[in-house]
Amino acid sequence: MKCVRIEAYGGPEVMVLADIPVPAPGPGEVLVQVSHAGMNFMDIHTRQGKYRQSRTYPVRLPCTLGIEGAGRVVATGQEVAGFAPGDRVAWCIAWGSFAEYACVPARLLARVPDRLGLDMAAASMFHGCTAHYLAYDVARLAPGMSCLVHGASGGIGQILVQMARRLGVRVFATTSSAARAGRIRALGADQVLDYDGGRFADAVRDATGGHGVDVVFDAVGRETLRDSFRATRKRGLVVNFGSVSGPLDDLDPIELGEAGSLFLTRPRLADHMESQPVVQSRADAVFASLLDGSLDIVIAARHSFDTLAEGLERLEHRRSTGKPLLVVQPEAG
Ligand SMILES: NC(=O)c1ccc[n+]([C@@H]2O[C@H](COP(=O)([O-])OP(=O)(O)OC[C@H]3O[C@@H](n4cnc5c(N)ncnc54)[C@H](OP(=O)(O)O)[C@@H]3O)[C@@H](O)[C@H]2O)c1
Repeated sequence: MKCVRIEAYGGPEVMVLADIPVPAPGPGEVLVQVSHAGMNFMDIHTRQGKYRQSRTYPVRLPCTLGIEGAGRVVATGQEVAGFAPGDRVAWCIAWGSFAEYACVPARLLARVPDRLGLDMAAASMFHGCTAHYLAYDVARLAPGMSCLVHGASGGIGQILVQMARRLGVRVFATTSSAARAGRIRALGADQVLDYDGGRFADAVRDATGGHGVDVVFDAVGRETLRDSFRATRKRGLVVNFGSVSGPLDDLDPIELGEAGSLFLTRPRLADHMESQPVVQSRADAVFASLLDGSLDIVIAARHSFDTLAEGLERLEHRRSTGKPLLVVQPEAG
């Protein structure tokens, strides 16, 4: 089968289009014929070797890339209950979706409703489940609260803005691109700001009577995190769920005290997808919102194996708006 692999960590040049045997599902695994795979920043982090020592995401070489996909079950391994050949499924945080077939742990699979295309299931699973646990479990957003979403034009950012707004939260958002501000406003953000070298924090404080917001969702990292502290109210929460600009590696906890006894967390999706019923319930919430029209996710580009590297490069260099997809085997009908 065709797949995109790495045998060493590095830049785009380490990705190779390979031909390997179709894998056999081990105990607890399901073999899926991949229809579509979502392309994510996490694929770039994988290629760079960011997870080489991770216990949460134990990536080892050689590695077939792709952490999100959708397709039809072809075979099940031992000890798998509840899935059968022909089932339409989606998953994320299991590596190997940039391939014609993938072995996926059954505990990470969600069933896809008949009315939802497998393309949209693959485009929404990772970002949707992430935004869901961040909004509902980590920040526990509720009516009357306020939040700031950095990188609101990004995949997770766009969904967070929509979920927060639907929960009755006042939403501030940042983007580096004036051209994307209109889209973010249309998704429900009350105020869209430029990062402005950290001065977004002053704008947020001014707009909140000098207090700051209840929650900041910060996946930008080094370039914004310290100013995010300034944008947060006393005893508020800073959710540093990513570091697209690089990590802040010189943080002294005393800074949180000085900034107003803040809570800082660095959560991971894997710790919020602890069983198949949890995965299914998060996916059901996302899929239902897509089907009733209350959540909008744009598929920005559809790539083949031949143009995948180009699509990942656009993502890495911030030139992608919306979700890029690898189309492996278009869904019949
Ligand atoms: N902790 C978790 O559970 C979890 C789960 C999934 C993903 N993540 C992480 O979350 C982060 C965001 O993921 P995503 O898929 O939403 O990414 P994405 O679609 O690429 O969006 C990231 C956004 O950040 C903004 N940005 C600001 N500074 C940037 C910089 N220096 N380089 C690149 N982008 C920058 C960009 O928007 P503007 O240019 O408009 O500002 C971009 O749209 C990644 O680090 C990913 O690994 C974490």
